[in-house]
Amino acid sequence: MIWPTSSLEVGIRSLWPGFSIQVLPEIDSTNSELMRRARLGLVDPVLLVAERQTAGRGRLGRSWQSDGAALTFSLGLPLAPADWSGLSLAVGIAVAQSLSPRLRLKWPNDVWLGQRKLAGILIETASFSDVRYAVIGVGINIGPVSSEGLATPAAWLGELLPGIDAAGALQRLLSPLAHAIQTFAKDGFAPLQTQFHALDVLAGCEVTLSDGGNGRAMGVDQGGALLVHTVAGQRRITSTEVRVRPAGDVSPE
Ligand code: BTN
Repeated sequence: MIWPTSSLEVGIRSLWPGFSIQVLPEIDSTNSELMRRARLGLVDPVLLVAERQTAGRGRLGRSWQSDGAALTFSLGLPLAPADWSGLSLAVGIAVAQSLSPRLRLKWPNDVWLGQRKLAGILIETASFSDVRYAVIGVGINIGPVSSEGLATPAAWLGELLPGIDAAGALQRLLSPLAHAIQTFAKDGFAPLQTQFHALDVLAGCEVTLSDGGNGRAMGVDQGGALLVHTVAGQRRITSTEVRVRPAGDVSPE
């Protein structure tokens, strides 16, 4: 595949001087690789794309399989927002909006088409001497994916944009993503709350929390925490995994 790395680099260097893009034919996980490099002191802003991951990772210790055509990349950079909460939502908004108006977000990290998952986001941070380093990993299904064994059936971008490939998807989303991260670092999540609400697939749905609680999802607060109305009052969920139930409550595509 031809990756338009040089032209994309030039566009982003006005935001992040020294920014580079690297494409590897194969790596275990782009997130893991950038963390390894950061431990060696390599913390300049970089976008690492893998044409194939052999041990892609998802949230909550899950694996991320991309057997079909996929765009898998991680953006690594020093980042110092006043407040980290809501970063994954800011990234999700940029990914969804740049790819298609039909995409929605499932708090906190998934991009959905209808009731199926099209993309996932895995954000990891670490401190190295005085630098706080963030790795923002994104995996997007580009071609058909088998839903066998998946908790949430899969969607792929080619359904919405016939003929698109991974390089084309990166071209669409990189600049909006970089601007979203820059804005988040300056102003936090609060200015993005309204945009998230317009994309929120859980709004008004009955949800089950992994701690056994349940209630109705009522959007997010200014810090990106999910608000859930329960019989015992409003709960503010920051990290618990949330499952939608029943799936039939989610609006159709
Ligand atoms: C999830 O849905 O649980 C998050 C999936 C994140 C997958 C991406 S693919 C690129 C980057 N490298 C990884 O190992 N994971 C992220």
